[in-house]
Amino acid sequence: MKKFKINWSSKSHTYTRKEKNAVIEVMTNADPLTQGKYLKNFELDIKKYLNTKGKVFGVTSGASAIELAAATLNLKENDEIIVPAHTYCATALPFTRYKAKIKWVDIDLDTMTISIEHLKKLIGKKTKAIVAVHLYGLPSNILEIKKLISKKKIIFIEDCAQSLGAKIKDKKVGTFGDFAVFSLHAQKNLTTLGEGGILVVNKKKYQKFIPGLRHNGHRQFKNKRNYWQPAMVDVCQDIKGITPFNFPMTEAQAFLGSQLLKRVEELNKKRIQRAEQFIKSMSKYPFLKFQKNIKNYKNVYHLLPAWFDKKICRINRDDFIDIMSKKYKIKVIVQFYPLYRYDFFKKLNNNEFKLKNTDLFFDNMISFPFHEWMSEKDFNYMIKSTHKAINTLIN
Ligand SMILES: Cc1ncc(COP(=O)(O)O)c(C=O)c1O
Repeated sequence: MKKFKINWSSKSHTYTRKEKNAVIEVMTNADPLTQGKYLKNFELDIKKYLNTKGKVFGVTSGASAIELAAATLNLKENDEIIVPAHTYCATALPFTRYKAKIKWVDIDLDTMTISIEHLKKLIGKKTKAIVAVHLYGLPSNILEIKKLISKKKIIFIEDCAQSLGAKIKDKKVGTFGDFAVFSLHAQKNLTTLGEGGILVVNKKKYQKFIPGLRHNGHRQFKNKRNYWQPAMVDVCQDIKGITPFNFPMTEAQAFLGSQLLKRVEELNKKRIQRAEQFIKSMSKYPFLKFQKNIKNYKNVYHLLPAWFDKKICRINRDDFIDIMSKKYKIKVIVQFYPLYRYDFFKKLNNNEFKLKNTDLFFDNMISFPFHEWMSEKDFNYMIKSTHKAINTLIN
C-alpha cells in the first residue's frame, strides 16, 4: 500500500545511549551469556518493582511464560480453562497442548477486559484456571474475580503482557494472581530488544517446578564424584508427563531490562499523558468509546483502542479507516480477532461460538498508532485528522 505518513510501528520505544552501552558491555564482558548474574539481578529488580513475595523468572517471551504456567497445572481432560475471547492468541495457545477445554469468556464493553457477568456463568466444578488479561494496559476487575473464586480451588493467572506498571490503588498487576506473565516483545511498553518475558509465580507450591521446566530439566546429579562425573548435568522430569523447555532470557536482554526498568514509569507517564490528551480531544464525539476510566485503576495505555457505538452513530469503522489511511496516510488498524473465529480454535473446540460484546467490539473497533517515539507534530496531526475524518462521516 501507499506510504503512510504515520505508520503502525512495531517498535514501541527507542533506547538511550546508556541502554545501548549496557548491551555492549554484556556482549564484551559477560561469561556466561545466559543464566548468569544479569538474569538474577533483573529478576530481583522486577520483584522489587512489582513488590511481590513471589518468584520471578526471566524468559524468552510472554508466550513462554504462559507455557510454563500451563505446564505446571497438571491439566486433565475434564478441566476447563476460562480465557477472554478478545485477546492476543498467545494467551490461549499454550493451553491447547493439553486435553483441557478452553471456555471463552466475553468482554465488558466499557473496559474491553473480562466480563464479570459472563464469567459468573462460566465458573463451575470443572474450572481449573481463569486467565484475566489486563488488555491494552488496563487492569481487569481483579478484585471481583478474586471474590468469585475465593472459596474455590481455581488457579488465577494474570496476563499482564500489555500492562507492566498498571495498578489498582497501590498494588501492581502481577501481584494478585497465582501466576502472572509479562511480555517484553517489541511493541510492549518496555522491550528487551524485540523479545522477552517474565513469569511471576506467586503461589509457593508451583515455584519449585519452574527452574527445571525453564531449562531442559537440568539439575546437578545427586552423587557427583567429580564435576564431570557421571556427567555435567542430570535431566529430570519434575512433573509427570511434561517434557521440559529451554526458555531463559539472555544476559544482554536481562541487563537491558534492568536499565529500562529505571525509566518504565517515565515511559508509561508519557503514554498516559498522550492517551488522556487524545481521549479528551475526542470528547465531542460521544459515540467514539475508549476504555473507561476506573477510580483507583491505573491504565498504562499500551495501546489506544476505541470503538464506534452504533447505537448512537452510523459510522462504519471501515469507512473511517479508509479515510484515515487513504486521505490522511495514517495507519489505523483493527486488533485481536475473536479467538473463536480462528479455524485453529474452532477445530479444537469443535464448535461455533459467538459472544455478543466480543463480536460487537471487534467489528467496530479501531486502534491508533501509539508508539512512544511519535513526534508531537505527528501526534497532533493524528488528532486533527481524526476530527476531520469523523466530521466527514457524520456530515
Ligand atoms: C495479551 C498478550 N498475551 C500474551 C502475549 C505474548 O507475549 P509474547 O509476544 O512476548 O510471546 C502478548 C503479546 O503480544 C499479548 O499481547
